[in-house]
Amino acid sequence: MSILKVAQLGNPVLRTKAEPVLRDIIHSEEIQGLIDDMIDTMREYNGAGLAAPQVHESVQIIVLEAENNPRYKDDPDVPLTIVINPKIVSFSEEMEEGWEGCLSLNDLWGLVNRAVKITVTGFDRNGDPLTIEAEGFFARALQHEIDHLHAKVFIDRMTDLTSLSFGKEYQRYHREYDEDEEE
Ligand code: NI
Repeated sequence: MSILKVAQLGNPVLRTKAEPVLRDIIHSEEIQGLIDDMIDTMREYNGAGLAAPQVHESVQIIVLEAENNPRYKDDPDVPLTIVINPKIVSFSEEMEEGWEGCLSLNDLWGLVNRAVKITVTGFDRNGDPLTIEAEGFFARALQHEIDHLHAKVFIDRMTDLTSLSFGKEYQRYHREYDEDEEE
């Protein structure tokens, strides 16, 4: 297992639509190794999720996890989730704004409007069909990662750029007050 380099905004791989993974190669060492490396990379950089194009692989794989994550400490936990060829099959009409950051837009944060509830289908890492009903932060994280597979990043979804903030200012002015946080 290894920690991979994360492509930064401007790298064409982030603006290329990712290819679906053929179901019969999901068990291959190449795909399984990539998934393990994506999980390691996400954890190393405290991401709440990672899409394969972010590690220079233009294939439809996303991983998500958020447990005691310092980058998302105001948000609820997300269990380790791996989805291959994810598709959002339903969106709630209800939308809500929330803060997003991205390991490929290092240090930038912004408010993005997303569906509150979604249903995602795809395959798990064993190649078995998967359906996820997600809500709130989990639904937001899934929408963010699936966007990467369609060559989109979160700033493309911002309808108003006035919230766009660098990390330090985001923490200082916009993150909910946390009494455990040191100044
Ligand atoms: Ni991202």
